[in-house]
Amino acid sequence: MTKPFIEVLAGKRQAVPPIWMMRQAGRYLPEYRALREKAGSFLDLCFTPEYAAEVTLQPIRRFNFDAAIIFSDILVIPHALGRSVRFEAGEGPRLDPLDTPEKVSTLAAKADFGKLEPVYEALRRARAELDPTIALIGFCGAPWTVATYMVAGQGTPDQAPARMMAYRHPEAFAGIIDVLVENSIQYLVGQLKAGADALQVFDTWAGVLPPREFERWSIEPARRIIEGVRKQAPDAKIIGFPRGATGLLPAYVEATGVNAVSIDWTAEPSMIRERVQSKVAIQGNLDPLVLIAGGAALDRAVDEVLANYGKGRLIFNLGHGIQPETPIAHVEQMVRRVRDYEG
Ligand code: CP3
Repeated sequence: MTKPFIEVLAGKRQAVPPIWMMRQAGRYLPEYRALREKAGSFLDLCFTPEYAAEVTLQPIRRFNFDAAIIFSDILVIPHALGRSVRFEAGEGPRLDPLDTPEKVSTLAAKADFGKLEPVYEALRRARAELDPTIALIGFCGAPWTVATYMVAGQGTPDQAPARMMAYRHPEAFAGIIDVLVENSIQYLVGQLKAGADALQVFDTWAGVLPPREFERWSIEPARRIIEGVRKQAPDAKIIGFPRGATGLLPAYVEATGVNAVSIDWTAEPSMIRERVQSKVAIQGNLDPLVLIAGGAALDRAVDEVLANYGKGRLIFNLGHGIQPETPIAHVEQMVRRVRDYEG
């Protein structure tokens, strides 16, 4: 049975673009909030296979999306590397800062993959319950983005601690990136074996890097990850999301070998069509704020995404994650409008 989402990644445009949303399992859903409360901590929710599989499936039941994304987080890799990772309610992630070359020299080379076994089990459970026409997406954070949290020990407005370390101590910083590359390859291959049909690499903070640094810390690690995964799984379908690096997307696509790139709402359509969508599929790129606004503004914005990219290989998505205050009725409105598209 074919999966429209996978068909697009394999190069075959679909008349009605497949649709899913980044962060589709999350706080805008009352059923998510209920299970989140029952689980206790956020990491307990991620690492209890029964719960993680259930929240993965919640948005599929409601909206019948074309893809489910396994419920987990990009920071499970630092956790499996033995770093302390906590999620404080309302504050975001907290880690032990890895902010000197001395500390980096103590970083484990290999993650304890036993700690990630619950993620694999959640993938097996979710895959078993999903309709065969719906794809299951596995994911990891890109090394640069994961490193920004590991170095600073928390989210920062401008990723200054990681940028500074990359300038001052490039060898130590490269040590973090190398560890993340190797362990991400193994983690992604493990997710494919557990039932993921495709993979996404989230480089949320790629956009803060100047071109030379972007090449070194974003493009090159993504290229190595994709090469490493395909050595073990030659047909692996992989989506890259170097968020905010819009002008450098052609170089990213060329060098990494991704099957698709996720783009945000600032993208310039003719450049993307000519230099990116001509080579790979596009995923995106509705502004999550217009999904909160709803009404005629939402209809117009959906139509614009379809007009800009619907004639080529498109996976309809947001340009970044859905926000907790988004009304469910607006998601339904968006899905209806995309599925009514006659392209
Ligand atoms: O997309 C999905 O539905 C799958 C689940 C998923 C989560 N995080 C669940 C989550 C995915 C794909 C991620 C990726 C992730 N995690 C990224 C990259 C993508 C992006 O959104 O930029 C990043 C940077 C993180 C790190 C992270 N996790 C932060 C900064 C936070 C706190 C901010 C916030 O939204 O609360 C998290 C927590 C987190 N990860 C939540 C969810 C649903 C919220 C936690 C809660 O329910 O209390």
